[in-house]
Amino acid sequence: MAAVTIKNITKAFGDNVVLKSFNETFKDGEFITLLGPSGCGKTTMLRIIAGFEKPTSGELYIDDRLVSGGKTFVPPEKRSIGMVFQSYAVWPHMNVFDNVAYPLAIRKAPKAEIRASVEKVLGVVHLSQYADRFPNQLSGGQQQRVALARALVAAPKLLLLDEPLSNLDAKLRESMRFEIKEIQRELGITVVYVTHDQTEAMAMSDRIFLINRGVVQQSGTPQEIYNTPANQFVADFLGKVDFFKGEAKDGRIVFPGMGGQSIPYGGPRTGKVEVAIRPENIFFAEDGVLTGTLEAQYYLGDVDDCRVRVGDTLVRVITNGWEYKKLANGRPVTLGVRDIMVFEDDGLLEQMLSIQT
Ligand SMILES: Nc1ncnc2c1ncn2[C@@H]1O[C@H](COP(=O)(O)OP(=O)(O)O)[C@@H](O)[C@H]1O
Ligand SMILES: [Mg+2]
Repeated sequence: MAAVTIKNITKAFGDNVVLKSFNETFKDGEFITLLGPSGCGKTTMLRIIAGFEKPTSGELYIDDRLVSGGKTFVPPEKRSIGMVFQSYAVWPHMNVFDNVAYPLAIRKAPKAEIRASVEKVLGVVHLSQYADRFPNQLSGGQQQRVALARALVAAPKLLLLDEPLSNLDAKLRESMRFEIKEIQRELGITVVYVTHDQTEAMAMSDRIFLINRGVVQQSGTPQEIYNTPANQFVADFLGKVDFFKGEAKDGRIVFPGMGGQSIPYGGPRTGKVEVAIRPENIFFAEDGVLTGTLEAQYYLGDVDDCRVRVGDTLVRVITNGWEYKKLANGRPVTLGVRDIMVFEDDGLLEQMLSIQT
């Protein structure tokens, strides 16, 4: 296990500043995810932690040891880190055992020790019976587990994973999430995981760091950042959300785009506000607050994804099928609203309100 402390790290490639004043501590044994859109700086941060990249300024500590900063730079092989990349390249000419043994073999570890370590880690990734197979005799998920085993065989204190599942199909990706999480729990290892997939981040992480343009927008547990997003970017990136322009007055928020219909509002703001509502927080109700016309409904199995026209605005409603099953398109409907998020003009969250209409 290892803690990682990032002190004021900035990274620029020429004029392009890709990480700005990164200040975070990842605790011992945590599963941390760096989440954000492509190009936001996730891989760069991971490569700085690994030692493949030097920060332009700032300091990096693994536990109490300075590994990067000032005149100090500890090379990757001296950082006790395991790493798996998106293209998980396992060597095609080596069987599973030799692939996994490789990091120990190049260190010239004793044969008996290599065997014991490889067998142990193959057990962890459920590949014990495949030790003699070659990569072309394995599925994508199994090859990915070989890469994982290779990263774990030298018992690293810290495991860095850069979009390790993105080359796998959807079903395999989902099951591998749980496997990686299990392995992390079993070994009690600290993991820094990079992905642009919010569902993956939500499912696996103790804490998520959501990055945009090299700046951490918010960090917290999946629940924290989903339920109380710090700003509009966070609300938008995690989960589904619709934004509506409104005006707060007299205990209500009025929506000009909805023909002047309104919802109750107990907050302090008056005047223009931006309201965000997650479609699962809008529902069909006899005594709802917004009235519109059911325009479309998409059956998705577990839920139904509906569009209701309220004035000039198309409102998205994600609901359990039973609630509206008997309704026909074109029919007038009434909508209730559970939770809303009210944002300031600068995009920062002012308030999260449960209105339960
Ligand atoms: N070696 C490099 N030289 C120049 N620019 C780079 C280099 N590596 C990354 N970048 C730039 O840094 C930014 C962040 O890249 P990266 O960390 O790979 O993002 P992410 O992993 O979030 O997709 C991008 O604009 C990318 O073009
Ligand atoms: Mg990347």
